[in-house]
Amino acid sequence: MANNFEYYSPTKVYFGKGEEKNVGRYIREYGANNVMIVYGGSSAKKSGLLDLVKDALSKENLSVTEIGGVVPNPHLDKVYEGIELGKKNKTDFILAIGGGSPIDTAKAIAYGLAEPDKDVWELYEHTRVAEKCLPVASILTIAAAGSETSKSSVITDEKTNSKRAYDDNLARPVFTIMNPEYTMTLPDYQTESGCTDMMMHTMERYFTNGGNMEITDAIAEGLLKTVMKNAVILHSDPQNYEARAEVMWAGSLAHNDLTGCGNDGGDFMSHQLEHEMGGMFNVTHGAGLAAIWPSWARYVMPYCLPRFVRYARNVMGVTINGTDQEVAEAGIQAMENFYHQIGMPVNLKELGIAPSDEQIEEMASRCLAACGGHTGSAKRLTKEDMIQIYKNAR
Ligand code: NZQ
Ligand code: ZN
Repeated sequence: MANNFEYYSPTKVYFGKGEEKNVGRYIREYGANNVMIVYGGSSAKKSGLLDLVKDALSKENLSVTEIGGVVPNPHLDKVYEGIELGKKNKTDFILAIGGGSPIDTAKAIAYGLAEPDKDVWELYEHTRVAEKCLPVASILTIAAAGSETSKSSVITDEKTNSKRAYDDNLARPVFTIMNPEYTMTLPDYQTESGCTDMMMHTMERYFTNGGNMEITDAIAEGLLKTVMKNAVILHSDPQNYEARAEVMWAGSLAHNDLTGCGNDGGDFMSHQLEHEMGGMFNVTHGAGLAAIWPSWARYVMPYCLPRFVRYARNVMGVTINGTDQEVAEAGIQAMENFYHQIGMPVNLKELGIAPSDEQIEEMASRCLAACGGHTGSAKRLTKEDMIQIYKNAR
């Protein structure tokens, strides 16, 4: 049965070749004067995109401040640095260039500047909610996290290794520019981690025990099959524009809530478990998800069997005759085969980490705290469940 839902996806999307050249004009529409550009390590410089954007903004007489050096699993210190810079320069609009890490940093800076007397980290600790946020936009260069249309921002306090998310519609970007050509320079590992992440955003909403709609399932299954097909193409043909375009658009649709309409809010425990791995071991988010998902899936499958059977049949194309358990297990195995086909890990060893029992205990404690208690829809996980899932994934 369909649950009531609110669907709010206000981000304007400019998709296709050359759209980045219009960025100054697009920002002007929001009445901005002082723009802060937030970007990562080197890719935006190397591609020439950063210079192109600065030119485009100055042609519109927009003043520009820039802050680079955002790292994957982005740090809180960089957010504070951006807030201080923004205060000095009277920033009134924030433009991220890159992927989830610069965009999430941009969102955090935007919260911080809108309420300058409060500590932005309180939002991520969930001790208060935001009342305001500056407008944020992005030029996306990696199809993955979906932050370009999502309400989430994920930041790591590097001093405590706490990776925390804050979700609020206030930070939904006002627009995003997506030119698939800019994603062609991605290393294969990042391309495929990105495809894994966007699939997981849909799967987190798919494996639930509460509320389903035929239309939502059809969109989710179509999206998953499209991403799988094009992830395989990109593994051997990274310059394929059509495949780049397919996964770029899929990445946004996967996390703008479209694939969850009518459900109970989704499961999201693979994400919660992975965020602790990212906080402690700094692994690439999508690859971390691929490594933890099979263990999570086998652990919760008995509690959410009809959805695993449907997934096996409709997404993974499992045709065997067998019990529901056998069909569901065949679906999980097919998923593992797919991950291997695109160079993704299916356990922690393949991911390149070997957490000790003590580290697993710590990740589970942190995960429980981040979730605010037992959470999950396929199965509500206790701390003991989390420990077992981590251990089974080794
Ligand atoms: O730093 P640069 O040099 O730009 O290199 C980046 C980085 O090393 C590189 N890259 C990006 N575009 C490129 C490129 N390299 C070559 N050519 C290009 N065109 O890719 C690497 C990863 O970048 P990052 O921004 O970290 O990628 P992603 O989009 O996967 O973001 C991951 C972060 O987003 C969070 C994750 O936890 C992680 O911290 N998430 C954010 C979500 C959200 N806000 O809605 C939801 C997700 O579930 C996720 O948790
Ligand atoms: Zn994700």
